[in-house]
Amino acid sequence: MTFRKTKLLPLLLLAGCAVAPMTPAAALDGSNWPTLQQPYAPDAAMEARIARIVAGMTLAQKIGQMTQPDVRYITADEVAQYYIGSVLNGGGAWPDMNKHANVAEWAALSDRYHDAAMRTDMAVQIPLIWGTDAVHGHNNVSGATLFPHNIGLGAAHDPELIERIGRATARQVRATGITWVFAPTLAVGENRRWGRTYESYSSDSRLVAEYSEALVRGLQGDLTGDGDVVATAKHFMGDGGTFNGQDQGETRSTRAQMITRHGAGYYTAIEAGVQTVMASYSSWNDVAAGHDYGKIHGSRELLTDVLKARLGFDGLVVSDWNAIEQVSGCTKAQCPQAVNAGIDMIMVPEDWKAFIQNTIADVEAGRIPMSRIDDAVTRILRVKMRSGLFDRAPSESRYNGRADAVVATDLAREAVRKSVVLLKNDDGALPLARGQKVLVVGDSADSLSNQTGGWSLTWQGTENVNGDFATGSTLLEALKTQLGADNVVYSRDAVGVDVTQFAKVVVVLGETPYAEYHGDVRFPAPIQYSHRRPNDLALLHAVSGKGVPVVSVLYSGRPAYANDLINLSDAFVAAFLPGTEGEGLADVLLGGRYDFTGRLSFAWPGSACSTGEHAGDVVQFARGFGLSYARPSTTGNLPLPTTPGACDPVD
Ligand code: BGC
Ligand code: BGC
Repeated sequence: MTFRKTKLLPLLLLAGCAVAPMTPAAALDGSNWPTLQQPYAPDAAMEARIARIVAGMTLAQKIGQMTQPDVRYITADEVAQYYIGSVLNGGGAWPDMNKHANVAEWAALSDRYHDAAMRTDMAVQIPLIWGTDAVHGHNNVSGATLFPHNIGLGAAHDPELIERIGRATARQVRATGITWVFAPTLAVGENRRWGRTYESYSSDSRLVAEYSEALVRGLQGDLTGDGDVVATAKHFMGDGGTFNGQDQGETRSTRAQMITRHGAGYYTAIEAGVQTVMASYSSWNDVAAGHDYGKIHGSRELLTDVLKARLGFDGLVVSDWNAIEQVSGCTKAQCPQAVNAGIDMIMVPEDWKAFIQNTIADVEAGRIPMSRIDDAVTRILRVKMRSGLFDRAPSESRYNGRADAVVATDLAREAVRKSVVLLKNDDGALPLARGQKVLVVGDSADSLSNQTGGWSLTWQGTENVNGDFATGSTLLEALKTQLGADNVVYSRDAVGVDVTQFAKVVVVLGETPYAEYHGDVRFPAPIQYSHRRPNDLALLHAVSGKGVPVVSVLYSGRPAYANDLINLSDAFVAAFLPGTEGEGLADVLLGGRYDFTGRLSFAWPGSACSTGEHAGDVVQFARGFGLSYARPSTTGNLPLPTTPGACDPVD
């Protein structure tokens, strides 16, 4: 099934390619940014209507349109009073701050905000647009199926699957009355120290570009359907290339690398019609050319000259959470530089009242020209009009308020099966055979929290228990279902268990959840699992070497050095962060109907200081690697280089 937008077809045909559009990045030599064509032809009648509305707005109304508070910090009445153009729910923001709020309660909150926006004293009422981070399904909503994080989806190498996930995510989001999603993340992750590695599909920009188009198409549909949402290409640009993998850090790429590598996903997103772009917290320093662009949020060259003028993006640019304060001379509540650089909508979650006041003053004092404000508001209205918000309320959707619309079990289970990678399978340790007694160990085995990772119900993915998710199954539950409860014995720590009584041991290893910033492994710390999770190594020591095959499954947001763990295992599965559907993992562990088809979308390191695919990095399993039942192979013992206390600088 495909959801290809008909408007895109002529473009594809023009490109001489009816199956998949050409990735412009692949055709680029890095000498200049491409010129692109977005599929929504400028509509003269719409533009005239927007111009009339903008002409009738006061300055306060315009600045209100450009302001995006978080739902925790604004009431519906304030939306009306301040002419607010947009709200967001940041990670861990729920209606009435109730983590278990149901879909109907989400939809009701959306109605309250929408109604407020439509009862202002403006000449023309402007509907509000609510944005949310549905980055692996509608991840702030209890009861919603969560898909594998992007790193796992990358391993699936299946753009058609990504498009279907986009469709399903859009439905989930529409069920809650929300019409804007802050995805896809188009980072090309270069350094595994980065805590957001799992939000990147791949270190291969070609895969990122293919997926970008697929997810945008899946999320947006034709933009006006009742199961469509507006998508966001983020974080523009270079977020995955920061020095030492530091979140929000400095990307030291040449212009050619930026054009061919970090830009790749944006070209396909724009050509697929993405309506919004989020600026990156990071900065760009083209050291080789002696050109420091500084923080992206303050870079007119990138946001206006490149993105809007050269790439032809005519939607809106939104800033990241409080990111304007990182532009030199700015605060959380005031940043004329960012607006002048080309930010159209400002994510000022808390300090929005001061921001409105300060920005009005900036315009009145001439620090921001009115033409810039009008352009920003025009872009915001264009996105709202194009996406049908002026024609019908967000609640006018067949999915609105429906609990079943946030459930996509079969699709997520398929995605899990396709996204896990078999790194080792010596002596046929896998598959597990039905009827055999299996010992399952490790607290991750029964943890939806470790299985889903960051950006799951809460921002960092912490403070969640299984019951909070209200849907899905852990791997332990899935194994009990598929092998029979009588055949599965569970022990968190393997203490006092006689391993020899079992045919196989399944050890579930896992990082505890993290998200941006908190998830970084800061240079110069070595990047080795067992250093960070010594209990997992102890667990493996407790069960291995007893003559019973050991099957390890690892939940992780990044590939990291794990040869010690792999050597203690007969089979080793990199499951990344599979989400709520443990059944998909059990499907492949049991074999039969399903084989492993996942292939690494990032290189897997073979030493504790190897952080990616830089020169000098030791790679244990190359990008593209992955075993299967159909292609058995013996791995044997991997080398165990000594791990230094601290790593040397790379780059
Ligand atoms: C993240 C974005 C996210 C935003 C809103 C930021 O801190 O970098 O990816 O969309 O918060 O939650
Ligand atoms: C929000 C997140 C946001 C983060 C940024 C959190 O409180 O909930 O959505 O990305 O702050 O620091």
